[in-house]
Amino acid sequence: MECVEIIGGKPLSGRIEIQGSKNAVLPVLAGCVLHAGISRIRHCPRLQDVEDMIAILRELGCLVWWEEDCLTVDASFLSGTVLPKETAGRMRSSIFFLGALLGRCGQADIPYPGGCVIGARPVDFHVEAMRSMGAGIDEAEGRIAARAKSLRGVEITLKLPSVGATENIILAAVLAEGVTVINNGAKEPEIEELCRFLRGKGARIRLLPQGSLEITGVSALKDSEHELIADRIAAGTYLLAAAVTNGVVTLGRMPVQHMQALLDCLEKMNIAIKKEGKDITVDCRKPRRGIEFLETAPYPGFPTDLQSPMMTLLAVTEGRCRLRENVFEARFKTVEQLRAMGAQITTEGREAIILGVPGLHGAQVRAEELRGAAALFLAGLGAEGRTQISGCGFISRGYENICENLKQLGADISVEE
Ligand code: UD1
Repeated sequence: MECVEIIGGKPLSGRIEIQGSKNAVLPVLAGCVLHAGISRIRHCPRLQDVEDMIAILRELGCLVWWEEDCLTVDASFLSGTVLPKETAGRMRSSIFFLGALLGRCGQADIPYPGGCVIGARPVDFHVEAMRSMGAGIDEAEGRIAARAKSLRGVEITLKLPSVGATENIILAAVLAEGVTVINNGAKEPEIEELCRFLRGKGARIRLLPQGSLEITGVSALKDSEHELIADRIAAGTYLLAAAVTNGVVTLGRMPVQHMQALLDCLEKMNIAIKKEGKDITVDCRKPRRGIEFLETAPYPGFPTDLQSPMMTLLAVTEGRCRLRENVFEARFKTVEQLRAMGAQITTEGREAIILGVPGLHGAQVRAEELRGAAALFLAGLGAEGRTQISGCGFISRGYENICENLKQLGADISVEE
């Protein structure tokens, strides 16, 4: 899917179900290699990132197959510990194999994931943590080569609550000797989900009263079946799509308990929200109120992954908003494209000032990263006239069937391959 065309201005209405969580399933898939046996993951989203992880698993000798929305990984015959650059270099999440392969095999050789369009995204916390657990690590020629006779549990205090580093340490610690404690780890729901998956395989992980994680190494794991949580970022994107189009939408299978920061924000903006079990209905027909300030923060703060889609909504909401991005230093790449559609946004460093306009107009724009692509989809849905978005390959990395879902909600959207 390279190019998408949207004829905007139609209020979305109807109901869709929310996909399984991308950010939860990626470390879970790496975690499958820890066990010489079967891991079944239900409600697994069919995404490009998932397909890339499957390709890596197969290159490592795992058997992987789909049965409807259930993905099974059989890692009984794991035969490799070197990740080829072609597959692994495509995605940042290949770094999760560092902890998982070290844990199972005592060695891992991973291409350095490098920077990306939203910021430098170093992996120094991951590497330092593996070193402190006893791994020898060489970083040369764009690769991280790690070896450990045996990993040992230690107390690790992260400088920042990095989501990926916390997950990588958990993966490495599950089969390590002794007890690992992670202080100042991330608290995102995807971390708890990885722990739940691993506990289902026999891992010993508990949350200490002061918020640190304690992992006590075990000698082996067991076969398991796990139902994945729903994707709070995809869910939030669809809520925002309803808002941008002044629609009335019901979303099923919602991760309601993980969405408070966004729901609070929408409520402040005068959007009516009704919760019923795992359903959320938003009615966005009343005039919206602006908000003066919003900033991203680690969970339970406002998620950085919803900052760009939220910016689209603020761009068409009356008033002036100061939007601050605290997690990644370069996450305003979509501003220029939104401006081409009539938005009034200026940026300085980590802050954007958005002056709401009554509406956007269609234009030809280009997506440069996943959540930026989502923001442009929303802009196209709300805009007057025709929007052509190129670079849409990014969207299938994180959103399952997004065009079909939006069509089901009444959007006029078509794909040019
Ligand atoms: C994960 C999510 C991503 C989300 C982000 C923040 C996945 C697959 N991706 O990314 O969608 O936007 O959390 O919620 O779950 N940092 C370092 N050194 C490190 C690691 C991180 O300096 O070794 C910095 C980063 O540059 C960034 C901050 O820590 O400024 C947070 O990044 P981190 O939480 O690690 O994000 P990811 O795990 O990469």
